[in-house]
Amino acid sequence: MRNLDENTITDAVLKRHEGASNVRLGAVMTSLVRHLHDFAREVQLTEEEWEAGIRFLTEVGHITDGNRQEFILLSDTLGLSMLVTAMANRKPVGCTEATVFGPFFVGGAPVHRNGDDIANGAGGEPCFVSGRIMGLEGEAVPNARIEVWQADSAGFYDVQYEGDTHRARAVLHSLPDGSYHFRSIVAEPYPIPHDGPVGKLLAALGRHPWRPAHLHFMITAPGYERLVTHVFRDGDRYLDSDAVFGVRSSLIADWIHHEEGVAPDGTRMQSPFSTLAFDFVLNRSS
Ligand code: BEZ
Ligand code: FE
Repeated sequence: MRNLDENTITDAVLKRHEGASNVRLGAVMTSLVRHLHDFAREVQLTEEEWEAGIRFLTEVGHITDGNRQEFILLSDTLGLSMLVTAMANRKPVGCTEATVFGPFFVGGAPVHRNGDDIANGAGGEPCFVSGRIMGLEGEAVPNARIEVWQADSAGFYDVQYEGDTHRARAVLHSLPDGSYHFRSIVAEPYPIPHDGPVGKLLAALGRHPWRPAHLHFMITAPGYERLVTHVFRDGDRYLDSDAVFGVRSSLIADWIHHEEGVAPDGTRMQSPFSTLAFDFVLNRSS
C-alpha cells in the first residue's frame, strides 16, 4: 500500500485491523481510528497542534502515579467517564441513578455500626445522615454493604492528606428493615485537582474545576446490582456546571440546617448541625 493520501489513509489503517484475533478489540480500534482521522480532517489539525497534543498527553502521563490518576481526570472532565457510567447503568425508572466513581475511593475503610460518627476528626458542621436501602417493589434490603466517603469542609478527602488515617469514610450495613444512619459532616463544594495539565486545559477553555457538594455511596447486596452514586446538596451553586458532568436531579437532596438542640440520635448538640435523609432503590440483578 503506497501513495496514501489524506483520504485513503483511513481505510488503509482499518484494513490492517482485519486480522485482529480479539474481535471486540478490532471493532473498537477501527471505530477509534475512523473518528480520530475524521477529527483531524474536520479541524484540519496542524503539525504544531499535533505536537501540542502529544506534549499534553506526555504531561498527563508524567504526573500520573499510584496516588494521582490524571488520565481519569481527563476522561472525567471530557464527560467520557459519565457517558460510560450512563451506558453501563441503564436501570428501570424508580431505581436510584448511578454517577461517576471518582478517584478518591480507597478500599479498607473502617467498618462502623449504624449511629457511629464516621468523621473521625474531619472538619465540618456535624451532619446526621439516614435513610433506607430498598428494592423496586419497596422491599427492605437488609445487610446491604454501604460504603460512604466524602470531602471535609476544606474540600479535601482523607487520602489527599499525609498519613493513612481514614476520615469521613466508612463501611456500614443496613439494618433488618433496610435502614441506615450515621453521623458525619456537611459536604461542601470542592475543586477537582487542577494543578496539573488537566487543570491547565480547563483554565484555557474558560472552565472552572468545581464539583457541587456531594456524598459518595457504593452499595452492594446479594441479588441486586451494585450501585455507585452520589447524593448532591440542594442549592449548591455548581449543580448546573459540575466539572465532571455527574449531577442527576434525582440525586439532589435537602441538607436541613438546625440550630443547637437535640439531634436525631438524642445527642444534645451545643452548635448548629444538619440532617440529610436519602433512600436508595437498588435494581435486582438478572
Ligand atoms: C469525586 O467526586 O471525588 C471526583 C470525581 C471526578 C473527578 C474528581 C473527583
Ligand atoms: Fe467527590
